[in-house]
Amino acid sequence: MSDAQVIIRPLKTADIPGVVEIFCEQFPDLSWTRLGRNFIDKFIGWHFKYHPDLALVAEQDQRLIGFIVGATGSHREYYYQVLRDAFPEFLAGSILHPWLIFKSSFWTLWLEFLRGRRSPGKRPKDIGMSKTGEKKGILCFVAVTKTAQGLGIGTSLKQAFESAASQAGIQVLSSYTEIKNVAARRLNEKRGWKQVREDKRHKIVYFSKRLDKRS
Ligand SMILES: CC(C)(COP(=O)(O)OP(=O)(O)OC[C@H]1O[C@@H](n2cnc3c(N)ncnc32)[C@H](O)[C@@H]1OP(=O)(O)O)[C@@H](O)C(=O)NCCC(=O)NCCS
Repeated sequence: MSDAQVIIRPLKTADIPGVVEIFCEQFPDLSWTRLGRNFIDKFIGWHFKYHPDLALVAEQDQRLIGFIVGATGSHREYYYQVLRDAFPEFLAGSILHPWLIFKSSFWTLWLEFLRGRRSPGKRPKDIGMSKTGEKKGILCFVAVTKTAQGLGIGTSLKQAFESAASQAGIQVLSSYTEIKNVAARRLNEKRGWKQVREDKRHKIVYFSKRLDKRS
């Protein structure tokens, strides 16, 4: 790693291929990744299109070394919206990789998509209010390239993301990670996220953070 300054800044269209690269490197086993690069490209594009204020990258020496993306609303709304937008890629990936049928998370994607179709289609910008009138948001993915991990970049990305979410009026953020993902759990704890639920069956732990205006 060079000593050059790390810059955290909003994602630009030209960054999408670099973000796809980091995504595929850091999430190789995810169903989303296995659906193919076209799908990942489309889904990062979705973030840029609908939530540019919640999509940030870390850059050093004009090279991307990390990213973080989020959205307003709940995880369920998010899955539906992304899959609807990237439906041709989602369908093509499902046909080209039929063995994905053995992954329960892949089934969950399809179920979320079909469930979402039953409710009237809201635009991504319209969703995100809780029953109590609080604006909700989710942290969808954060990743730092292998050679830059452990140097505080994930922490900087998360801090900048929380500020951006707060400026966008979001009051409560949530996210989840695998129970075995020690780095992501530590990162959450360090930034004051509270563990709210542990789903032992799916080996996932849920986190939440209430933002104050100074986040
Ligand atoms: C999670 C991730 C983004 C953290 O990024 P990072 O730049 O390495 O994080 P930081 O350097 O800011 O470290 C944050 C804290 O986690 C700890 N940490 C980082 N990597 C760790 C590891 N492999 N094991 C244990 N703790 C770890 C750090 O020590 C630090 O805590 P400390 O300040 O108390 O020492 C990075 O590991 C990553 O890209 N992982 C793969 C993708 C992923 O799993 N994303 C999360 C789910 S969406």
